[in-house]
Amino acid sequence: MNIFVAPDRTAAALRTADLVEQLVNATAPTALGIATGETMEAPLAEIVRRHRRGTLNLASTEVYLLDEYIGLQPDDPCSFANTVNRLLVEPTGISPGAVHGPDPHTLNLYAECAGYERRVRAARIQLQLLGIGTNGHIAFNEPGSSFASSTRVVRLSEQTRSDNARSFPDGAQPPAAAITQGIGTILMARELLLVACGQQKAQSVARAVEGPVTRSLPASALQLHPNVTVVLDPPAAALLADDARQPCRRNREEGKDFYQ
Ligand code: GLP
Repeated sequence: MNIFVAPDRTAAALRTADLVEQLVNATAPTALGIATGETMEAPLAEIVRRHRRGTLNLASTEVYLLDEYIGLQPDDPCSFANTVNRLLVEPTGISPGAVHGPDPHTLNLYAECAGYERRVRAARIQLQLLGIGTNGHIAFNEPGSSFASSTRVVRLSEQTRSDNARSFPDGAQPPAAAITQGIGTILMARELLLVACGQQKAQSVARAVEGPVTRSLPASALQLHPNVTVVLDPPAAALLADDARQPCRRNREEGKDFYQ
C-alpha cells in the first residue's frame, strides 16, 4: 500500500488528478471508477481543468459510479448520477453514454444490481477512486459488509445518513437505502486510490490502513488488494503511526514521492 500525505487538501486533489492523468494518458480506452462525496469535488474539478487544458483527454474514458441513493427523484441534484453530470460530464462535454451507474428507478432493483455487477466486471476497472466514511465504509458498504459482497441494495447507517446530510438542502435527510458496488466488486479493480481529507476521517483511515482486517471496518479490505494508493491531507493522516505520518518530509529528503 502506498501512502501519500500531501501538504494540504489542495495538494491531495492535485496528486489524485496526477494519478488519473497518468492512467488515462497511458491507456485507451480507459475504464475509470469514480466516487462521489465532498472529498472528490476538488479532484474532479482538477480533472476537468486538465481536460480543458488538453493534458488529460477523457474522450475514450468510460466512467463507472460506485453507488446511488434509492428514493430520490430522477432530477434530484443530490443523486450521485446528477452530481457526476454536474461535476464531470457537463464541464468536460464527455458523452453521457460513457457514464455508467446503477439505476435506482427501475422496478426490479435486484435485477438492476445483478446487471450492474455484470457490467462493472466486464469493464475491468483499471483505477477505482474511493472515499471513506467516518465509520470506515467504502462506497455504501457499511460496517458488517462481507468482503465478498457484490452489487446490492443496502440500508444506510444512521452515521452515514447524518454525515451525508450536509450535501442535502437544509433539513432534508438522505434516503435510508442505496445500491452499492460490493467490496468484492471493488477489490476486482486493477488499482484502488483512496482519498481522505480532514480530521473527521483520521480514525477510519488509521483503522483501514493499520488496523486489523475486519468487516467491522469495510475499508480495511483494501489491505487485501495488491495495488492500493492512499492520498491524505495531514489531518486525515494524524492518527497513523509516526513513520507513516511524515512521508512528505522524509520522501523529499529521499527524493521519492511515496512512503511504502
Ligand atoms: C458517500 C459515498 C462514499 C464516499 C463517502 C465519503 O457515503 N457513498 O463513496 O466515500 O460519501 O464522503 P465525503 O467525501 O463527503 O466525506
